[in-house]
Amino acid sequence: MDLQHVESDLDLDQTLFTEDQIIGRLQEIAREVEADYEGRDLLLVGVLKGAVMVMADLARSFDRHVEMDWMAVSSYGSGTTSSGVVRILKDLDADISGRHVLIVEDIIDTGLTLSWLVTNLRSRGPASVEIATLLRKPDALQMEVDVKYVGFDIPNAFVVGYGLDYAERYRNLRSIGTLAPHVYS
Ligand code: IMP
Repeated sequence: MDLQHVESDLDLDQTLFTEDQIIGRLQEIAREVEADYEGRDLLLVGVLKGAVMVMADLARSFDRHVEMDWMAVSSYGSGTTSSGVVRILKDLDADISGRHVLIVEDIIDTGLTLSWLVTNLRSRGPASVEIATLLRKPDALQMEVDVKYVGFDIPNAFVVGYGLDYAERYRNLRSIGTLAPHVYS
């Protein structure tokens, strides 16, 4: 869906990134990852549901083989603030012991979800665990976990589109925009 298909154009304040900008940046990240993981196998772990679009476009940007697996964890309910509570809704299919794992995320806000996830995956004995995220908000900079690949640093606003939702809507929007406060207040 494109912006013109959002019923009320008042729902979205501002487009932050167009589909072309997003895909262009993911291609740059893919080149960096290829250089860093040369000669090593690579397992991309996508975090459902938000990372679906990032995973699809990042994985297809590689000129090498990668494997994909998925985890689903709960962090946010249908609101716009982090609960800090993380629960596994779907675990990995793959055994990651001895493997190089790259977590693929849509957005890091407080970083609570991710630091929990990294600790959880590290306890399974992988060769390495790194993080790639399309978007990062300012609070994430205080995070103890090192994020190796960042698409874009964004201001502290609630954003939707390209996999990111508000109450399960807007995930299928091609671009990424900020949600007008009246939609969630
Ligand atoms: P964190 O634990 O605060 O870093 O939140 C991580 C998760 O919250 C992300 O994977 C998203 O699912 C969700 N989230 C955080 N910020 C936003 C946003 O601006 N829009 C949509 N979802 C968000």
